[in-house]
Amino acid sequence: MKKWKKNSWKSYPVKHIPKYEDEKKLQMVLGKIGDFPPLVFAGETRSLREQLAQVVEGKAFLLQGGDCAESFAEFHPDNIRDTFKVILQMALILTSSASVPVVKVGRIAGQFSKPRSFPTEAKNGKELLTYLGDNINGIEFNEKARKPDPMRLFKAYSQSASTLNLLRAFSQGGFADLRKVHLWNLGFVNKSPQGKRFKEIQEKMSDALAFMEACGINPDSNRRLRTVNFFTSHEALLLPFEESMTRIDSATGEYHDTSAHFVWIGDRTRQLEGGHVEFCRGIKNPIGLKCGPSLKTTELIRLCNILNPENEKGKITLITRFGYDNVEKFLPKLIRSIKKEGLNVVWSCDPMHGNTIKSANGFKTRPFNNVVKEVKNVFAVHQAEGSFAGGLHIEMTGQNVTECIGGAQKISDQDLSHRYHTHCDPRLNASQALELAFLISDEIKKNSQNSKNIAQAAS
Ligand code: PEP
Ligand code: CO
Repeated sequence: MKKWKKNSWKSYPVKHIPKYEDEKKLQMVLGKIGDFPPLVFAGETRSLREQLAQVVEGKAFLLQGGDCAESFAEFHPDNIRDTFKVILQMALILTSSASVPVVKVGRIAGQFSKPRSFPTEAKNGKELLTYLGDNINGIEFNEKARKPDPMRLFKAYSQSASTLNLLRAFSQGGFADLRKVHLWNLGFVNKSPQGKRFKEIQEKMSDALAFMEACGINPDSNRRLRTVNFFTSHEALLLPFEESMTRIDSATGEYHDTSAHFVWIGDRTRQLEGGHVEFCRGIKNPIGLKCGPSLKTTELIRLCNILNPENEKGKITLITRFGYDNVEKFLPKLIRSIKKEGLNVVWSCDPMHGNTIKSANGFKTRPFNNVVKEVKNVFAVHQAEGSFAGGLHIEMTGQNVTECIGGAQKISDQDLSHRYHTHCDPRLNASQALELAFLISDEIKKNSQNSKNIAQAAS
């Protein structure tokens, strides 16, 4: 294996990285960011890796969710709070069915850059560079906005830092206290069937807390009952930025990408000989790998060996995203080859990216039913193959948006235009996200039984 450096990715071909007109300005910005404080601390990243190792063993479940693309326009404390609330609620629903801890990871505090299907976009006879994410260019359809501007990286860094600051405060400062579960409910979900089902869990929790209190265990005496571990993640797409956030951890001498705890390689940038894989092989963070229909088993095995030569548990999360009707066709062979090679991975399911369609009135959307079907199909395949479906990766928001059709609110094609706010892909709203968690709770239960059998067989 060739020597790795944080800039060795530059000698490889890379896709989906913009060309900046003013290279000098870009270098100035990257130089400054290279001196900014890290956003996350290496010890936290190690702790996430340890928790993901538990997922590999079937002793925990991974929940990863948030925006497709964060934006400067939607940056608001209420939005951060509401996304956090829904993730906590979903985690509680999943914990109560799976009876295992849920590792909570947000697509947040740095999820800006997007790989796009086409490099340019045409409208009214005018052709401009496609929108690539708020840290690169602007979404407005005019020449000035669409020009990649390195100065946007400062704003993205600052937004990520303050988002993370609020998330840390929420997770450690009392908001996540199990006595406050009733405060996690969002107004618009309260009266829905999901809101009502969530209240039942709330009541069960209150009873359990009262019982524990009687036994002398309460959130004041036990930190675990009043704080949560919450981690951040994004796609490691914009390598110049990721490189400038990569630092040596003084305690271990290892390189960490300090822009987030967890970063992933997208389905469009996972080339064996590409810069994204080269960059990610050198950092100690846990790495996600998106696995779409075009991924060959031989490629997958080579990717795992490059990214995780020591076969460490918790290092690799395979995020499968095939489309609900393609799961049976593609997933079993990947599972079998990983098993055959004895590789340690977390298997997570992204039921969003393989189920995107265009609505009759031109909106990019995802039918809620197909999202649910993909998760159910993935769980069934893992069950049949005797492997552990360890995670769920979703695009969601705490806002009452109308971006994905269907669900209990029966969002129709006509409703999409009402509150369609996403800067990229359609997200589940809070009601749909909770509904999904409830709808898969039976699968999660079976899954956890399956994991016990796996653990027993191994011992
Ligand atoms: C994403 O997660 O937003 C994304 C672009 O996914 P994928 O690489 O799986 O298409
Ligand atoms: Co997306």
